[in-house]
Amino acid sequence: MTLAPILLRSPAVVVALPTPIVERSREHLFPKDVVLVTSRDLADDPDLFPEESRAMARATPARRHEFALGRCCARQAVSLLGGPRVAIPVGRFRDPVWPFGYVGSITHCQGFCAAAAARTAPVDDSRAIRGLGLDSEPVASLPEELTGVVCTAEECAWLASRQGDGVPWDRLFFCAKESAYKCLFPTTHRFLEFRDVGVRFDPENGSFDARLPSLYGSPSHLIGRYAIRDVILLAATTWLEGHECP
Ligand SMILES: CC(C)(COP(=O)(O)OP(=O)(O)OC[C@H]1O[C@@H](n2cnc3c(N)ncnc32)[C@H](O)[C@@H]1OP(=O)(O)O)[C@@H](O)C(=O)NCCC(=O)NCCS
Repeated sequence: MTLAPILLRSPAVVVALPTPIVERSREHLFPKDVVLVTSRDLADDPDLFPEESRAMARATPARRHEFALGRCCARQAVSLLGGPRVAIPVGRFRDPVWPFGYVGSITHCQGFCAAAAARTAPVDDSRAIRGLGLDSEPVASLPEELTGVVCTAEECAWLASRQGDGVPWDRLFFCAKESAYKCLFPTTHRFLEFRDVGVRFDPENGSFDARLPSLYGSPSHLIGRYAIRDVILLAATTWLEGHECP
């Protein structure tokens, strides 16, 4: 299948595209050395490598389709970084296994799909990237009973102070925490509860800080950014080397 990539020169990641094309942006949600490829639904299933195909042997057509779209975006992100066009197998805990020297993250939601990737080796004088996390969610509030599962008491108080501003902050907490989990898991292999992660949003800057439990080898916090584009919320986290707990 041929995909038509376009390079977005604006700092915004536009996700609501009328036609099924793949776009990429080096800016906005992630630091500059990260490539983000997003796609709206494609009619056909993009090609898979045999081991990827085997992982989807018993999947429904819809699941196979979203998986293939994710792999397509992920491979394109790695290629744009000058990396190899290889399989991205499914890890033991469903985590994508990126080619050696690369980290990344995949998300899909309601026909939208995106993948981010970066080289682990630092470029120029920037800091090495040890992990990336990307999550997408529909622009809708969480079911009420979930808010207390996802948010700490401090976050619930903050939510109350933002009521009526039109932003589904409860869903954004969920999205930010899922992105933090995806960022950490491939390296730490540790399960986290939602309330293990403390998120503080900075609505002025479209950013957030994700505080993490103090665990050897894990970062003490991740830097995050979020975006609301049409009907999709996006949260992105980056683990920069040097943020690890002693
Ligand atoms: C992994 C998880 C975060 C996925 O999120 P989701 O909103 O259901 O779905 P998304 O489409 O955004 O993401 C799915 C992709 O995440 C990636 N993923 C799955 N498990 C992963 C893991 N353990 N680590 C990193 N990435 C993972 C995969 O690429 C997957 O797509 P694929 O199966 O097509 O390759 C979620 O299913 C999960 O397992 N949560 C349990 C842990 C948790 O949420 N803890 C609280 C947060 S702190």
